[in-house]
Amino acid sequence: MSFFSMICCRKGIDRKEKEKQQPTWRIFSLKELHSATNNFNYDNKLGEGGFGSVYWGQLWDGSQIAVKRLKVWSNKAEVQFSVEVEILARVRHKNLLSLRGYCAEGQERLIVYEYMPNLSLLSHLHGHHSAECLLDWTRRMNIAIGSAEGIVYLHHHSTPHIIHRDIKASNVLLDSDFQPQVADFGFAKFIPDGATHVTTRVKGTLGYLAPEYAMLGKASESCDVYSFGILLLELASGKKPLEKVSATSKRSIAEWALPLASEGKFSEMADPRLNVVELLKGESKQKLSELENNEVFKNPQFAVCNDETSGGIEESSEIIEEEKDPEPVKEKETEQKSPQDG
Ligand SMILES: Nc1ncnc2c1ncn2[C@@H]1O[C@H](COP(=O)(O)OP(=O)(O)OP(=O)(O)O)[C@@H](O)[C@H]1O
Ligand SMILES: [Mg+2]
Repeated sequence: MSFFSMICCRKGIDRKEKEKQQPTWRIFSLKELHSATNNFNYDNKLGEGGFGSVYWGQLWDGSQIAVKRLKVWSNKAEVQFSVEVEILARVRHKNLLSLRGYCAEGQERLIVYEYMPNLSLLSHLHGHHSAECLLDWTRRMNIAIGSAEGIVYLHHHSTPHIIHRDIKASNVLLDSDFQPQVADFGFAKFIPDGATHVTTRVKGTLGYLAPEYAMLGKASESCDVYSFGILLLELASGKKPLEKVSATSKRSIAEWALPLASEGKFSEMADPRLNVVELLKGESKQKLSELENNEVFKNPQFAVCNDETSGGIEESSEIIEEEKDPEPVKEKETEQKSPQDG
């Protein structure tokens, strides 16, 4: 090999190593984000959560972004911002929302993500997309499997292991093919190597909290698995995790589903927007009869928290958020021009 080709070869290796080491996210200036979102125009608003508002934007290269802008600066919000950025910068998986970067100038805190054209699962199940019935059974299965893969990656393949602590329909975003990406790592926790759980203040969303976590503050992977189970029931039934049954009380989706499941009334449980007759035949029928023989379905009272427990959850934590109805948002067209384009 000639000296020249050795140099070229070395250069190639250097470039490849550099590419590998280079983070895929960057720091944005506030000016750039102002320009991308048309000065955080109301028309660009995609939604709002506990942290602040989320805006659609377009960068100078034409790529679309979602920008989450902190509402009010506080120490708590600063922690949430840092946790989210630190975790998202570490993880890369097809079913976890990608971080494009962040901006921290003065008291402004902004997180820049990949834009998900089909917004959140919440908007399709209970929000302004729900009447369009875009989620057939195949899409719902893909959403369930993809979300599970994202969670498995956090629990088992990232170092240290991560628990999300806020798995819910508004935190499952859908790309242009309705493939799911789990989002929102502001409440996430690292599980140190060898530890079975961490004891912590309870955070999360009512309706999705595992009873042992809500009562004892013991956070482990199983908290996410419980929330994911609630999400599965929501996907299959189209019902909300907590439903108002009177002016003063709410019923959890598990309380609603278990008696029906134990009586084998699966067609009553299925979302009426789904045509499920075929699912109740053939292979699925065999699986359903296996489920019917499961202990949980035979004794539904064991599996559901009673009312005192739910009351305890609410009182024991000031940080738990209640799932809001999604506010109506305008869908952003892919061909929408950037503000600079006029
Ligand atoms: N990357 C994104 N692409 C498209 N839409 C997004 C994106 N991120 C968020 N959104 C939209 O913005 C809404 C608000 O998101 P946000 O995470 O702030 O609040 P939330 O999930 O509803 O509540 P919480 O604060 O409890 O997580 C989402 O429901 C979703 O519709
Ligand atoms: Mg969210």
